[in-house]
Amino acid sequence: MKILNIGSLNIDKTYTVKRFVQPKETIRALKYEEFCGGKGLNQSTALAKAEAEIYHAGAVGKDGKVLVDMLNGAGACTEYIKWVDDVSGHAVIQLDETGQNNIIIVGGANERIEKEDICSILEKFEAGDIVLLQNEITNVDFAIEEAKRRGMLVAFNPSPINEMIDRCDLKQVDYFILNEVEGQALAGIDSEEPEAIKEALKVKFPDASFVLTLGEKGSVFFNKEEVFYQNSFKVDVVDTTGAGDTFCGYFLAGVARGNGYEDCLKEASAASAIAVTRKGAAAGIPERKEVLKFLRQ
Ligand code: RIB
Repeated sequence: MKILNIGSLNIDKTYTVKRFVQPKETIRALKYEEFCGGKGLNQSTALAKAEAEIYHAGAVGKDGKVLVDMLNGAGACTEYIKWVDDVSGHAVIQLDETGQNNIIIVGGANERIEKEDICSILEKFEAGDIVLLQNEITNVDFAIEEAKRRGMLVAFNPSPINEMIDRCDLKQVDYFILNEVEGQALAGIDSEEPEAIKEALKVKFPDASFVLTLGEKGSVFFNKEEVFYQNSFKVDVVDTTGAGDTFCGYFLAGVARGNGYEDCLKEASAASAIAVTRKGAAAGIPERKEVLKFLRQ
């Protein structure tokens, strides 16, 4: 089964700080680094490293060679990436000494994905293939509709959550990959309790399957028939940027391989545990052999 990820590619401008800057305050960064990132690129990198057949579609600007090289190096197919006369997307990231981050994204070339691009790329895929989407490019709502009309399976990581999500026909989504904040927003409830979010999502989208990541509390897969819980692995956190993307990519790679959902969760959880011990979003994503070794230990 092929996976097509129509997703963002960003240059992550990462500022290591002792603590996040506060309103009206100026602080000095301890370090400045640039990494390859973007939820799309990170997830395709994870899929490739997890040995899935992954095709990345998206757009980069004149400064985008480093991003395309990163994906090629990981083993993703990049022939559907468009080069535009613009700058690539980028992210401004504060990374504090506990490894937590906050992120501002700037769309750049990620906002140049047109409906015609989506149609011509989907032409190359077949019913039963998976389309993976996040919410950092233009025309995500159209991509969901068009992929579904062609009989493809739709996996959606609605991140970041914003008003664009309201335009999407979420009933068409087969797999949601969510964190607690995204889960709560989609469920449309006040409670932050994972069980409440889970039950509300099942009622609202009865035909979908879900992965809900809960940070240190682990993760849960569920749909109307099954539920599996996975604890998180304890590691020394250096940088959480891209941890959710690593989880998403590894989980879907397992699904495409035909693994049971319990195994998919376990590998995804191990991969993201390794990723947070390293700096950089895509750079921190481990190869599958490392993940399997970690699980044997
Ligand atoms: O999920 C992490 C990613 O979010 C970063 O790599 C950044 O580019 C933003 O897209």
